[in-house]
Amino acid sequence: MFGKRGTGSDEFRPAPPPPAREAAPAPAPEPAPAPKLEQPVQPEPARPPAAEQPVAAQAAPRPAGTFGNQPAAGQPSTAAAPRPAAPQSAPKPPPAKAPPPKSGPSPRRSEDYYDIKTLIFSALIDAIDLSQLAKMDGESARDEIRDIVNEIIALKNVVMSISEQEALLDDICNDVLGYGPLEPLLARDDIADIMVNGPETVYIEVNGKIEQTSVRFRDASQLLNICQRIVGQVGRRVDESSPICDARLPDGSRVNVIAPPLAIDGAALTIRKFKKDKLTLDQLVKFGSISPEGATILEVIGRVRCNTIISGGTGSGKTTLLNCLTRYIDSDERIITCEDSAELQLQQPHVVRLETRPPNLEGEGEITMRDLVKNCLRMRPERIIVGEVRGPEVFDLLQAMNTGHDGSMGTIHSNSPRECLNRIEAMIAMGGFTLPQKTVREIICGSVDVIVQAARLRDGSRRITHITEVLGTEGDVIITQDLFVYDMDGEDANGRIIGKHRSTGIARPAFWDRARYFGEESRLAQALDAAEVDQYAAGA
Ligand SMILES: Nc1ncnc2c1ncn2[C@@H]1O[C@H](COP(=O)(O)OP(=O)(O)O)[C@@H](O)[C@H]1O
Ligand SMILES: [Mg+2]
Repeated sequence: MFGKRGTGSDEFRPAPPPPAREAAPAPAPEPAPAPKLEQPVQPEPARPPAAEQPVAAQAAPRPAGTFGNQPAAGQPSTAAAPRPAAPQSAPKPPPAKAPPPKSGPSPRRSEDYYDIKTLIFSALIDAIDLSQLAKMDGESARDEIRDIVNEIIALKNVVMSISEQEALLDDICNDVLGYGPLEPLLARDDIADIMVNGPETVYIEVNGKIEQTSVRFRDASQLLNICQRIVGQVGRRVDESSPICDARLPDGSRVNVIAPPLAIDGAALTIRKFKKDKLTLDQLVKFGSISPEGATILEVIGRVRCNTIISGGTGSGKTTLLNCLTRYIDSDERIITCEDSAELQLQQPHVVRLETRPPNLEGEGEITMRDLVKNCLRMRPERIIVGEVRGPEVFDLLQAMNTGHDGSMGTIHSNSPRECLNRIEAMIAMGGFTLPQKTVREIICGSVDVIVQAARLRDGSRRITHITEVLGTEGDVIITQDLFVYDMDGEDANGRIIGKHRSTGIARPAFWDRARYFGEESRLAQALDAAEVDQYAAGA
């Protein structure tokens, strides 16, 4: 449209939509307790050591209100010794609803109880769709568990008194629904990340700074048990045989677990908390992440359908920035988003949200980002937005960008616009494309209009450090032009970084014609102008 999209070829035009059965991902399995029940019931003696069956091994009643700060004295969780069911009346963390306090002495729990619980627990885990369960509120989730547990008890001819059944149910609900010591951290809105390095050490990130907390887990198996519960909710398992796992909390927070033996000091759990109220460009201006003029330039870039890559390190605010940019997309555009786990919150009405899927326990059924982006092209998108570009899908995104899906966007992990371009090249190579370097670079230049660089500075603050245009190639070299940069001047007395945003004096960016087409050229010119004047005003 504006003469830059030369390198696209017709074969990448969106094909007519395929028959629905091809396009539709396999529907989530219905919870179907009955037929599956027989499978998981293996003879108990075959149970391997604790690490391999942490859920089962941990099946012992856990003082529900114990947030791990005081280890349950002398009560290892290996479930061997019978113990009084005191925890029943203890306050419980949400979301599990506290049952009415039990009157009278609780029944003693025998070895049998724990064996039965283990049996029922594993049958339940196999029978129930924990991801569905996660979407319910505490009460209905409990009811659901109650129904299934009762069914399992009946099916397996387990003999139990009513009170035993009730106790078992509470136990199981706590194991399935709560997060123990993590609850108070999860409840806080000001935390960006929670990092658990084994049962003794928990760090959080608040206001861009990492700090250690006093939160502890009772022991390694409680931690692993909670990890299990978290990943169980998305239908996955983490244990010695598959020690690495990504998952998501019901509130949308992203979770990574790496368990022993890979994690040497106990399971490492990393949670990127989901913020319901995503930051807006106005807020970024308030925080000093970008100047008002810079924000205007970004608005224009979002609105006028520049193909944009947001580059930055981990936690530098890429996804936040991408979300901000999408606010300026016109509401009549058809947008398709592809993410590893849905974080973006688009305001427009016409959005299709897609998510990748990890392989199941048998290593099958994986849907990669590349699969999604390819499929997008058949869905008649106007813009494609890829949450995080990590691999060969970059090629498909670039193709989308230069075959009429102007305004597509994605984020890439890199520390400067130049490095970002190198990463793109490297990721194309990862896909096994053996194109000459020159061609690859031409494709990149024909596709990407703007790279926005985000950075997390050493004082914990986030800044947008570059708005850079990709102009074209000269010989083999990609030519870029910074429109807007952040200059760091130093630190103030409190260790906070001082510096300023400024435009580089380019009055007519390469996307000027686009801006004109959308009637945004004067706003753009003004912002660029003002950002330049600022520099002199600041006496640089
Ligand atoms: N400019 C900013 N100022 C303050 N906090 C920010 C800023 N940008 C992002 N954050 C916060 O930092 C955390 C990480 O941001 P995110 O966009 O998810 O990073 P990335 O996608 O680069 O890993 C989030 O909690 C987010 O709210
Ligand atoms: Mg991100």
